[in-house]
Amino acid sequence: MQAAAIAFDRFKPLQDDACKSRIVAAKAALGKRAVILGHHYQRADVYQHADLTGDSLKLSKLAGQTAADYIVFCGVHFMAEVADILSKPEQVVILPDMNAGCSMADMANLAKVERAWREIGEVLDPDQTITPVTYINSAADLKAFCGEHGGIVCTSSNAKQILEWSFARREKVLFFPDQHLGRWSGYMIGIPPDEMMVWDFDEPLGGLTPEEIRKARILLWKGHCSVHQMFQVQHVLNFRSRYPEGMVIAHPECNFEVCKMSDYVGSTDFIINTIAESKPNTRWLVGTELNLVNRIAEQFKPQGKIVQFMAPTVCMCSTMARIDPQHLAWTLENLVDGKVVNRIKVPGREAELARTALKRMLEVV
Ligand code: 13P
Ligand code: SF4
Repeated sequence: MQAAAIAFDRFKPLQDDACKSRIVAAKAALGKRAVILGHHYQRADVYQHADLTGDSLKLSKLAGQTAADYIVFCGVHFMAEVADILSKPEQVVILPDMNAGCSMADMANLAKVERAWREIGEVLDPDQTITPVTYINSAADLKAFCGEHGGIVCTSSNAKQILEWSFARREKVLFFPDQHLGRWSGYMIGIPPDEMMVWDFDEPLGGLTPEEIRKARILLWKGHCSVHQMFQVQHVLNFRSRYPEGMVIAHPECNFEVCKMSDYVGSTDFIINTIAESKPNTRWLVGTELNLVNRIAEQFKPQGKIVQFMAPTVCMCSTMARIDPQHLAWTLENLVDGKVVNRIKVPGREAELARTALKRMLEVV
C-alpha cells in the first residue's frame, strides 16, 4: 500500500526562514520536473521562489509552454484552473492552498449567468446578438459557458482587443464579472457611457427595463475587486496637488474615475514595464495591490524613482496571500516524496469548452 501524503499540520508551526531552506532543497531535488509560476501579487517570501512570473495573460501562455511534470501555481484558484486547461493532460497543476480564491471571481457563478442569459432571452435572442465575455478572473465553468455560446475570455491586458473581436461578431456584449474592467475597456473603444448598463444579478432582468437592454451595447456584471475598489479619486487629487510633476498609473480594476484621472492604465505587467522604462528620478502613484507596489518601490529605488501606493490604507489581496511559505514547502516536499497534494483538475467537458474560449483569446493576442 502507498504511504499517505505528509500532512500540512507538520508545516504549520514552521518559521518562514525554516520554510525557505526547505523550499530551496525541495526545488533542487525536483529539478526540471517542477516549475513554480508566481503572480505579481504574491508575497515576497513566496515570490522569491518563482521560476516564472507574470500577469494573468503571460502566466496562461507560460503554463501552455512549460514541459515540467508539475506546475506549482502561486496565484489564485482561477489561474491554476487556466494552467490545467492549457497544459498537457499528463501535466499536474498544484495550488499550494485551496483557499486561495478570488473574491471578484466569486461574484459570478454559472447559475446566475445562465439566469441572466435566460432573462435577456425574454427581450432578444442572446445567441444571435450577444457575445459573452468573461474576465479570466472567473471559474472554469463560466469560461466553458463562453466557449459554448460563441464567447471569449479576456485579461486586463487585452480586454480592449477582445471587445473589438466581440463587436465584429455580434452587436452586444455581456461582460462578467468585473464591471470596472468592462466599463474602462468599453470607454477605450468609444462606447458611450449610457450604452453600458450595469446588470444587477440580484434583481429580476438585472434591474433593467427591456428598453434599456435593447439600447445597451455592453451589459456590465455588477462585480468588482475588493482590493482595487479602495483606490479613490481623492487619493489621486491629493497626490497631484503635492507632486504636480508626478505620474499616476492604475490597474483597470480600479473604478472609472480613477482610471480616467490616471496617466496610464494597464495590467500588472504593464505597470511594472511602464515604470521600468520611465526616466530616472520620476515619482509614481500606483493603484494596484500592495505586495507588487512594495516590490517595485524597492526595485526602482536605485534609479531614483519614487513609487507610492495609491491608498492610505493597506490593500492586499488577502486570498492570494494564503499561499505562504508553509504551504509551498508542504506541496514541494510531498512532490519530492512522490505525492501530489492540492491538484487542480478541471473536468473533461468543462475543460474542453473553457479551452475553446481561452484559445479564441490567445488567437487574438
Ligand atoms: P493581471 O492580469 O493584470 O495580473 O491582473 C490579475 C488580477 O487579478 C488583478 O487583480
Ligand atoms: Fe481577485 Fe482582486 Fe485578488 Fe485580483 S486583487 S486576485 S481581482 S481579489
